[in-house]
Amino acid sequence: MTTKFKRGFASDNNSGVHPKIMQAILRANEGHVVAYGDDPYTESAVAKFKEIFGPETQVYLVYNGTGANVLGLQAMTEPFNAIICAETAHINVDECGAPEKFTGCKLLTLPSQDGKIRVEQIRPLLHARGNEHHAQPRVISITQATELGTVYGPDEIEAITRFAHDNGMLVHMDGARISNAAAFLGTGLREITRDVGVDVLSFGGTKNGMMFGEAVLIFAPELAKNFKYIRKQGTQLASKMRFIAVQFETLLSEELWLKNAQHANRMARLLAEKVKDIPGVEITQSVDINALFVKLPKDIIPRLQSESFFYVWDEQESIVRWMTSFDTTEEDIEAFSDLLKRHLQ
Ligand SMILES: Cc1ncc(COP(=O)(O)O)c(C=O)c1O
Repeated sequence: MTTKFKRGFASDNNSGVHPKIMQAILRANEGHVVAYGDDPYTESAVAKFKEIFGPETQVYLVYNGTGANVLGLQAMTEPFNAIICAETAHINVDECGAPEKFTGCKLLTLPSQDGKIRVEQIRPLLHARGNEHHAQPRVISITQATELGTVYGPDEIEAITRFAHDNGMLVHMDGARISNAAAFLGTGLREITRDVGVDVLSFGGTKNGMMFGEAVLIFAPELAKNFKYIRKQGTQLASKMRFIAVQFETLLSEELWLKNAQHANRMARLLAEKVKDIPGVEITQSVDINALFVKLPKDIIPRLQSESFFYVWDEQESIVRWMTSFDTTEEDIEAFSDLLKRHLQ
């Protein structure tokens, strides 16, 4: 995958590390501290999470987002359960079946044009509750922001959590881009998670300026009972935990999480503004966060990719995905929109 551009629009995972976080990693690289999380960096990162989400929040740092999702779901289910999610959910399409493998559960997927799922769609899936021939729905998993770059409002989340709790179910949120969602809504992180009834949150760090690391935040205390064993057995207990912890400590200080997300979102809006009137460009989803979904003439996609790589999202529909990052610059956007104009005008 060649590219002439220093920073492209393929993924927010393609970006490097925020300089403040890199400096923090270097600062933490002094002397010895106790391994496996019994160290001052982890204590401080956990305290930051508790400041934001409330003191009862149980915090478990892990290496990656798939691990956070899979283990969070494992803590919420038994193998005869079912997990309800959107067809487009990362847990359904991008985790190589790990949620099914680790939880033993069946995923019940719902079609979605915009990446969100709604109570009216979920309700019919409960018809076989109590019937031993059917996997029993136990968790609704939603992604905030969604894989299609859209954002659930607090009311939409609350409608789902209320329905879930009224029906003896729990809600998991894949928050790989939770900071981008909060930046878009202009809310705090707690207001769109714990305060609206989410039970377990996968909190994303990697896509928002960290080198690696995510956190499983458990708001319903009984679900945390066995989590330390689940994390270890699930191979996500970091021995040198301080290096994940110090990154979170930095990201959660001085609102770096918000500044990075606001910047990435703003760059996506700017990109949308620059390209929306170029003939052949059709933006197919609302640009809420740092992602654009764009329908393009099929034949030009490989030519564009050869100069600045990005992923095709939907081959059939000829829709591609462009993502901005915390470090995208206005010059990057200018250069990319010039490239489009060269090929399309
Ligand atoms: C919605 C969503 N969830 C979770 C993840 C985390 O995945 P990973 O295991 O690659 O960190 C991603 C990364 O692409 C994602 O887009």
